[in-house]
Amino acid sequence: QPVEDCGIIVFGASGDLVHRKLIPALYGLALRRLLPPRFYILGFARSEMTDEVFRERMREAITDAHGEQPADTLNAFLAMCRYTSGSYDDPAAYEKLAGRCSVCDLDFDSSGNRLFYLALPPELHPEVVERLAQAGMTSEGQDHKPWARVVFEKPFGHDLQSALRLDARLGKVLAPHQIFRMDHYLGKETVQSVLMFRFANAIFEPLWNRSYIDHIQISALESIGVEHRGGYYDKAGCLRDMFQNHMLQMLAITAMEPPISFQAERVREERTKLLRSIRPWPEDDPANWIVRGQYMAGPPNILPNTQTGTRTAHSALPDYRRERGVAQDSETETYVAARLLIDNWRWQGVPFYLRSGKGLQRKVSEIAVTFKRVPYSMFGMTSKAQMPANVLVLKIQPDEGIDLTIQTKQPGPKSCMSSMSLSFKYQEVFGVTPPNAYERLLLDCMQGDRTLFWSSEGVEAAWRLIDPVLDMWRRRPERCPLHRYPAGSWGPEAADALLVNAGHRWRRPPEMAGTHTA
Ligand code: BG6
Repeated sequence: QPVEDCGIIVFGASGDLVHRKLIPALYGLALRRLLPPRFYILGFARSEMTDEVFRERMREAITDAHGEQPADTLNAFLAMCRYTSGSYDDPAAYEKLAGRCSVCDLDFDSSGNRLFYLALPPELHPEVVERLAQAGMTSEGQDHKPWARVVFEKPFGHDLQSALRLDARLGKVLAPHQIFRMDHYLGKETVQSVLMFRFANAIFEPLWNRSYIDHIQISALESIGVEHRGGYYDKAGCLRDMFQNHMLQMLAITAMEPPISFQAERVREERTKLLRSIRPWPEDDPANWIVRGQYMAGPPNILPNTQTGTRTAHSALPDYRRERGVAQDSETETYVAARLLIDNWRWQGVPFYLRSGKGLQRKVSEIAVTFKRVPYSMFGMTSKAQMPANVLVLKIQPDEGIDLTIQTKQPGPKSCMSSMSLSFKYQEVFGVTPPNAYERLLLDCMQGDRTLFWSSEGVEAAWRLIDPVLDMWRRRPERCPLHRYPAGSWGPEAADALLVNAGHRWRRPPEMAGTHTA
């Protein structure tokens, strides 16, 4: 699908997200010649700044992310950037913005198509959209020519009620096709490749069910702490920050039924259907279903890098409660592990184990599918020394790729067996690291393709699952205590208890990849 000429109007343009993700992604698209021929970027934020100062900041953002760039390429990109300032609650600022957009539309001959990107705290979203609408900027022409679309960064609400209220307000000023709810995990190449893996190969889907799969683990582990985001994070916590969105989307993609086509609505319907079939966590015995933790100060993280043979030390993290912006008696969770069951024919009785946290030993995100063991071993193994199961690992990051462990015979006269890995590494095969998730998602917004974005029904289904847990933690915290774990560890030991009754255990190195700590 061609990318139509357009302008992107970035709210919160002086903020961190724009610096670290958005501008580098737009530049990445420019490098790969994927931006439309007539295009502009108009930054909008409270701080006063000239176009020149804004361009200098964008130059810095680009070189921070991409390294030194050829002057002509970089200057050509910066020439498309402009800036205007104003207060988000001031109608006059929107009049001024509308005027500036019209000038840019003319100067860049961009057909009047506009993408509004809200890199702002969620509490500002409804007001900003309403004011944009009042200033006439969200209206579209006949047959959506020109179009106006709005991109929202997660979180979509703070709980079920606030998410429903937000949706109702957005619904008054925007049509559904104008709303793009961004979850950058859906833009990760390796998350999307789960769909190809499942539905473009005939050999796996017949096994993808309760008859052959023993259990599935989905992990998104981070070695960093809250960094400079303590203020936001302390109000959100891991359940809202990672589980309500990225983790549930990874689960949905792994477990959903095949959509009838790869059209946005069909794919989104299947993801939502899956989210709706997750069994609500029972209130009794919660520690058996969900565990929360918070990192304490830990020793420096020393990691061996198997590729270079070196060991790298990463500085120690402070106690979470000493992080900037965090309350000294904070009970916010920086780690969550959960056991889930899915009530449908395909998955009845198969445990899904999900865990995510900060301040852990390494950065690694993966989906690991453990198949059932062979029903009987004819190779003389005792019941204690069982034949290992086949494990399929979809490696989201780092070392993006796919691994399948199989049992093979060791060379020699004896019947000795060993586990081997059939391994596909994205970097080795394609010679490139997967593109940035934001690049893909921004391109999809410009093309009007909402396949990889949250639907309002999906957001609601996710909150319906998460909300009772937040409520239980609030009402009866003693039933699900906050376990403190040392930074640099694998999280609270209590998380192991979620698996042991079923005879399972969390994956750890050397099974898990992830020798990098970024
Ligand atoms: C963001 C969360 O959505 O995802 C962050 O708000 C988290 O807290 C980040 O660090 C993780 O993303 P990635 O792509 O680094 O795994």
